[in-house]
Order: sequence, then structure tokens, then C-alpha cells
Amino acid sequence: MNRRGFLRNTAIAAGALIFGRTQSAVAASPKKIIKASKFPVGSSRKFVATNGAPAFLFRTKSGVFAYSAICTHQGCTVDYLKAGKKLVCPCHGGSFDPFKSGKPVGGPPERALDKILVSIKSDWIVQS
Ligand code: FES
Repeated sequence: MNRRGFLRNTAIAAGALIFGRTQSAVAASPKKIIKASKFPVGSSRKFVATNGAPAFLFRTKSGVFAYSAICTHQGCTVDYLKAGKKLVCPCHGGSFDPFKSGKPVGGPPERALDKILVSIKSDWIVQS
């Protein structure tokens, strides 16, 4: 290997090392969504997931859970209707039950909403 090749390979290796550290640092810090003390049992709210997509967070006596707000039919954004306790899609009338694993309960969707992993850590609800 000549000098130019050595320098190029060294630069690539250094870049990979720095990029790898940055990636692991990002993965190691969970995204804070809301303080747990400000989100009591029975609460629900929209938030932006780490991938930038809209999502819904819920808290019940059994804990916290969340779903992507992207409809599994054709990708419209669902909204939570508290009165009916359903996540409803405005595009074709699909609906999902957030208290039964986000499964479809009406309209054309055949697949449940994607789950988003959340947990409570040090009084924060975080996306893991
Ligand atoms: S995109 Fe949601 S029901 Fe069609």
C-alpha cells in the first residue's frame, strides 16, 4: 500500500469509528416524551416518535403504551376520539382499538397499528 492509500484507509477507519460512536450515543439515550407526573392514568396524547412520525401515547393502570398514528391501510394519520376510545382514520373510516393492541375494529385496515416501545424512567415517559 502506498502513502496515499494508507492515508485514505486511515481516514475511512477514523470516520467509521466516529460515526459508530455517534450512532451508539444516539441509541443509548431514549427520547423523553412527557414527565410521568404530568401524565396520569387515563391520559392520552399525540407525540412525535423518534422517526419523526406522529404517534399516540396512553397510560392506564397497567402502564404506558404507544402506537404509530400512521394507518396501516394506506398511510393516513389517525386521530384519537376519546368519546369512542378509538383511533380513527379520516381517509376511509378505519378504526383501531388502542386498548386491544391497536387491532383494527372497523373499516378496511387488516393489520394493527405499529407499536412503539415506551416506558417510565426516572419520572419521564420515554421512547426506548
Ligand atoms: S388510509 Fe386509513 S382507512 Fe384507509
